[in-house]
Amino acid sequence: MSTRHTTPVDLADPSLYSRGIPQAVFEEVRAVPGLSWNPIAGDVAGGFWAVSRHRDVVEVSRDTTTYSSEVGHIQLYDIDADALDARASMIDMDPPMHTRLRRIVSSAFTPRHVQGYRPAIEQRVNRALDNIVREGGGDWVKLVAAPIPIGVICDMMGVPETDHDYMIELSDHLVAGTSSEPLDPGAYGNTTALRLLPFNSPAAHGINEYAKSLNATKRANPADDLMSKLVRAEIDGETLTDAELANFFRLMIFAGNETTRSAMSHLALQLVEFASEFDRVRQDSNLLDSATEEVIRYSSPILYFRRTATCDVELAGTQVLKGEKLVMWYCAADFDETVFDDPQRFDVARPTPPPNVAFGGGGAHFCLGASLARLEISILIEEILRRRIQLDIIGEPTFVDSNFVNGIEHLHVAVK
Ligand code: HEM
Repeated sequence: MSTRHTTPVDLADPSLYSRGIPQAVFEEVRAVPGLSWNPIAGDVAGGFWAVSRHRDVVEVSRDTTTYSSEVGHIQLYDIDADALDARASMIDMDPPMHTRLRRIVSSAFTPRHVQGYRPAIEQRVNRALDNIVREGGGDWVKLVAAPIPIGVICDMMGVPETDHDYMIELSDHLVAGTSSEPLDPGAYGNTTALRLLPFNSPAAHGINEYAKSLNATKRANPADDLMSKLVRAEIDGETLTDAELANFFRLMIFAGNETTRSAMSHLALQLVEFASEFDRVRQDSNLLDSATEEVIRYSSPILYFRRTATCDVELAGTQVLKGEKLVMWYCAADFDETVFDDPQRFDVARPTPPPNVAFGGGGAHFCLGASLARLEISILIEEILRRRIQLDIIGEPTFVDSNFVNGIEHLHVAVK
């Protein structure tokens, strides 16, 4: 029988990420042959397999038959069947249901289609930069990184501008469910047991309630937005239920917002730390796309997603049993030294392929919004460089307390 290697520390501990990605820990995990087992006391499966290498993340991502998103959960801890059911959106489903749901919205996210949002994104980027320049600095997250993505995704969904701040607040509280801090179960008028809510957060109740009223508005007054499209959509002759619509809405608001915001927050740090790299982009605009990709790889906004083995299978030489959890640490795979040359180096001209796996390792669940996120981030970089904005970081950034997102809560800057 082969030795079961265990992880050097508990990768599920949120405090491990309190200063960003623990690179030395993941280097150690990658160096061990096969997969490493991360025990969790009291967990139904006893823990999970840590998938840390690029090729293994790709293999798991692309095989939805062997590695399910529907069984157990896509986050670390298993949840009961009723809780899974209550929160299910396409990201927690396997084909064919996943395919049917994704098909409703996928045409709005093609690289060609998202170019149609360019003028609106440019306007949002300019407004945010005008604000921070006028103030001579401030909290980069609050003034720049947060308002741009939420504004873009809310416009797409048909959420009025007056509610954007409320969406930011709800999205922040949703992530708080992955921290080690206890949450107030009654927040946002919630009466549902937290275990039935996504991220075990009462903010999910707030989002669901908001989605219900938005659906009613869109049914009565359809417009050219995604929520209007969703309320009209039919699967096998049936429209989506209120609960399905709310879950869809929540997924879009969270996925379209939190992730891109993290990359834009890390961008501020990178602009300062790797100023000469960004000078290269200023001098050669052909580097804009690869620079955008490097910002995303280096930021690793989503730390992991999980799958569950549907049968006994061997992965990277390790025997995985049916029902065992596999956690794909994108933040580790994107620094895999066997795939990326000198991975800790920030290189705006880094060649692709190999692609980074910040948007997932490919396959059915590959990030629906990847082209949109790339466009938003590249427009922000372009505009910062065009305006020759120089930043100074004031004090230390505070990271979001989470083992799931590599988010920054506050980052104070001075603008020169
Ligand atoms: C830098 C920004 C972003 C990052 C790093 C990111 C990352 C990810 C990752 C890792 C996944 C899971 C992939 C998998 O399981 O194989 C995902 C899925 C998804 N993302 Fe993103 N994302 C970003 C931006 C966006 C944006 C702007 C949207 C817009 C709505 C979006 C919508 C989604 C959706 C709907 C899914 C689920 C897709 C499915 O299950 O078929 N994401 N994203």
